Amino acid sequence: MIITIDGPAGSGKSTIAREVAKRLGMRYLDTGAMYRTATLLALEAGLVPDRIREAAALAAAAPIRFVERPDDLTRVFVGEREVTDEIRGRLVSQHVSAVSADQGVRAVFTERQRAEAALGDVVLEGRDTGTVVFPNADLKVYLVASIEERARRRQLQLEAQGVSQSLDQLIADIAARDAYDSGRELAPLRKADDAMEIDTTGMSIAEVIETVCAWAAAGQPRKWTLSRMVRSPLDTPLYRFAFSFVPTLWRLLFRMQIQGREYFPLSGPVVLASNHRSNLDPFFLGVSTPRQIHFMAKAELWKVSALGWFIDRLGSFPINRGEADRRAVKRALEVLGAGAVLGIFPEGHRQRQGGFGEIHPGVALFSLRQGVVTIPVVMEGTERIMRGRMIRFPRVRVAFGPPLRLPDQDVTRSERALVTSTRLTDAFQDLAGTAGDRE
Ligand code: DC
Repeated sequence: MIITIDGPAGSGKSTIAREVAKRLGMRYLDTGAMYRTATLLALEAGLVPDRIREAAALAAAAPIRFVERPDDLTRVFVGEREVTDEIRGRLVSQHVSAVSADQGVRAVFTERQRAEAALGDVVLEGRDTGTVVFPNADLKVYLVASIEERARRRQLQLEAQGVSQSLDQLIADIAARDAYDSGRELAPLRKADDAMEIDTTGMSIAEVIETVCAWAAAGQPRKWTLSRMVRSPLDTPLYRFAFSFVPTLWRLLFRMQIQGREYFPLSGPVVLASNHRSNLDPFFLGVSTPRQIHFMAKAELWKVSALGWFIDRLGSFPINRGEADRRAVKRALEVLGAGAVLGIFPEGHRQRQGGFGEIHPGVALFSLRQGVVTIPVVMEGTERIMRGRMIRFPRVRVAFGPPLRLPDQDVTRSERALVTSTRLTDAFQDLAGTAGDRE
């Protein structure tokens, strides 16, 4: 198995990659250390900045070795000479981008990384390991974090080595390196289309490791194609019939943009927790997923002539708001028990003007069930469809987010409910598009 972990400087790659490798009993390869070592050798040979093209030959000849120590950073050697500390110094950090942009140097290390993987399971960490070195890796992870957080992490790392540097200086250094690494022509820092992104800002190391290991065990979730339909025993014939032609038309009509498809699981019980702005929301969700969604909808809808009959046959069921509706809860649990998708609108009421409403802690009732995955989803644009009597066709965006990370059993029920609704509130905020995205 090959796992690639890419991302900008300070996003947490080294720590995560090393720990994941340890946990899964795989080897770990720090590709940045290779480029750093080549940079050190090139600097010593006086090849920087004018003769970088000669660095490839140096890199090819350098017997770079990694020695893993259980509780320590990986030690790096060139032959018998240890360079572990030197390659992390300021001088190397300043010039590593230039040296690693050289085609010859990249070719040497790309080859060496592939040779490493031929020896068996490996976790690689770098900038291009999921895009260039192993486009067919079994699992690709892309880590990001805010620049302030990344600078702070680097500062702690340096402090541990007895080096002190100001935060502002580190932020400037990292920004410069980001720009250079992403802007270069050859193997630029870029998220592979099929990589799973994790924003590690504010996440604990353990949480990130947990997530990556879970993906490694389950196989990488992949984006499904829009034409895909996954059948389930709870499918209703009307839904299946409608699904055979409605989604394409509907998506075209609203120029729909569907993001984060890889997060939506193709099997197993799912709570799809969505924001709510229009009565048409369930239809927008329906055309954005390959599985039938069983919506919990307000009971009032069943009072509107044939509407109740219709949505019943699309698999929805009524809930009486403002009371503990036992029947609705029972039905929801049946849906999850059957391994199907339960659609809920935890804001309770529509936010017709846009924005988000307060999350009802009742979402925890379903989300915290064993084995249930809770996927947040945000729809934008549906609030603009119906204005008075006018019907418009605004562009609609649907964004699925990564599964919510929910508290374990060891906190009280009410605390768990609170955490669940807070996590969902945050997820909605994260998924909201930027102004530029909207139209
Ligand atoms: O991860 P790091 O900070 O040790 O990496 C040092 C530099 O090496 C980074 O600025 C870009 C370069 N690099 C690269 O170009 N390709 C890789 N696969 C890994 C690192």
